[in-house]
Amino acid sequence: MKRRIGILTSGGDCPGLNAAIRGVARAAYEMFDAEIIGISDGYRGLIEGEWQEMKRSQFSGILTLGGTILGTARTPFRNMRVIGEDNVDKVKAMKDNYEKMKLDCLVTLGGNGTHKTANLLSQEGLNVIGLPKTIDNDIFGTDFTFGFHTAVDIATEVIDRIHTTAASHGRCMVIEIMGNKAGWLTLYSGLAGGADVVLLPEIPYDIKEVAKVVEARAKSKKAFSILAVAEGAMSKKEAKMKKKEREAFRAETGFNGIANRIAKELQDIVGVEARAVIPGHIQRGGSPSAYDRVLATQFGVHAAQLIEKGEYGVTVALSGNNIIHNKLSEIAGVPKPVPQDYQMIDVARDMGISFGD
Ligand code: F6P
Repeated sequence: MKRRIGILTSGGDCPGLNAAIRGVARAAYEMFDAEIIGISDGYRGLIEGEWQEMKRSQFSGILTLGGTILGTARTPFRNMRVIGEDNVDKVKAMKDNYEKMKLDCLVTLGGNGTHKTANLLSQEGLNVIGLPKTIDNDIFGTDFTFGFHTAVDIATEVIDRIHTTAASHGRCMVIEIMGNKAGWLTLYSGLAGGADVVLLPEIPYDIKEVAKVVEARAKSKKAFSILAVAEGAMSKKEAKMKKKEREAFRAETGFNGIANRIAKELQDIVGVEARAVIPGHIQRGGSPSAYDRVLATQFGVHAAQLIEKGEYGVTVALSGNNIIHNKLSEIAGVPKPVPQDYQMIDVARDMGISFGD
């Protein structure tokens, strides 16, 4: 039986998207009579009707390629049901284009927002399968998302390289790691890079506690300090604020990001020479690691297997060593912060790493 499969990548990109696209396509071509439609720039392409019939050759040579061959865009879920100035009913447009493409199913590769819209489309009657990607690793129901481990490798290399220059100068280096709502990337790379202090959105910090660590190190033979700070890390005072209030407070401080602020605060309190380093989107760029190539391929193949069985309304996930799938309705919109009792937090604390709390 012939099946027409639409594929889109939505939200922030990450390494492994192409490996996952390739996994879906190659397995589908191998397993059944498949036609694949590539939709441009995520839900934007689905709304505006931008797609192309893909050739088998287009899925060749992309395993190691970073980014996404389909392009991506952020199309916020909160606006999906809102009719804007363009007067477009986005949900209707997506359903109409799904019909126009004569799709049997839609495979959506993305993070939390992507999954919320995938669930909406599934509830609207479309056959949808999600694949969880993000360097943030904050998708509920999967142990890991693809893209995460590559970002851990990159962030760890940043910390490693900062380590030597920090040691040479006896400086305090504050490295801002991506992750606004979840600190997975900071926790893993901080541990892998041997950071002295790890600050996560999930564990509000007290700058005085952080200063104590930096001061003790400054007075010791190892006069330098390495701080791995999640971009969404917050002080205990900020943690008590509502989101809007916190944003206003941050805007007032005038700092470009949390690392710059913490570096200045530590310079003032401890008197050390401090520098902020913001690797930013480098953490999302380039070729996926071997781990992510394997995981993305496993996810892609699992999606093709689900398509063969006609099982939809689900998203693929990793549970232990097994590839499973969860109902979109059960995972969409559910946050996955680092749990307070996550074993690695204890491991880090027992290694003498401070969370500034
Ligand atoms: O979701 C991935 C992520 O890289 C986050 O870690 C970060 O907060 C955000 O995207 C940055 O978004 P943008 O690429 O739109 O600047």
